Amino acid sequence: MRDIRNIVVLTGAGISAESGIATFRGPGGLWEGHRVEDVCTPQALARDPDLVHRFYDLRRAALAGVEPNPAHRALARLDAEWPGKLLIVTQNVDDLHERAGARRLLHMHGELRSALCAACGARIKWSGDLPPDTPCADCGAATLRPDIVFFGEMPYAMERIEAALAQADLFVSIGTSGAVYPAAGFVQTARYHGAETLELNLDPSEGSGWFGQSRLGPASVLVPAWVDEVLP
Ligand code: APR
Repeated sequence: MRDIRNIVVLTGAGISAESGIATFRGPGGLWEGHRVEDVCTPQALARDPDLVHRFYDLRRAALAGVEPNPAHRALARLDAEWPGKLLIVTQNVDDLHERAGARRLLHMHGELRSALCAACGARIKWSGDLPPDTPCADCGAATLRPDIVFFGEMPYAMERIEAALAQADLFVSIGTSGAVYPAAGFVQTARYHGAETLELNLDPSEGSGWFGQSRLGPASVLVPAWVDEVLP
């Protein structure tokens, strides 16, 4: 491996699978019994706010019953010990990376433990249920919704992510199917700027061919092994 200083890590649902959180594109094509377009679009929220709020209430409540696994803990160790730049970008809305101790972390698709005011844009830490029409503590409008980036909405912090990718010497993608853009395109951006690229996934992702190296297996095994390799 050449001289590596700046690392960008992208994680997806696969890293939390062994903690007991369902991935999105499992064999049945349903996410916890729902089609994503019924619970994960602005149209779904407008059509049936009770269903969408309830769906995310259940996902939020389920966080109490899961724990970070060795892959989350290995990335937290990388964060604590890596002397160069590091950005962990997760598509996951669970809080397992931060509960493992990761700090240089960005939730590009939002967070279950956050509420978003559709009127003023305030993002408010949230635990427990979030019924429709809950008033915003900042502006008072009854427009709080789950702080989840729905299909058709802009992910968070894209400028910061693009800047980190442009400086990356190494881009590592963990537990994501590569089916959803813009995250699926990060490997191409990183390559364009000269980074080495590595995929750690159970199965080859849709963009597997873009990676310089692809290692197949469970994240709980592959990620700690890779972190052991990369830490001095
Ligand atoms: N270890 C490593 N990889 C795993 C494991 C595991 N134990 N279990 C599953 N995987 C892999 C699967 O092989 C698959 O490639 O994780 C990937 C999960 O893919 P998806 O379910 O599509 O999840 P993700 O890529 O995170 O989805 C992206 O889609 O619906 C949206 O916004 C949602 O953030 C999500 C985005």
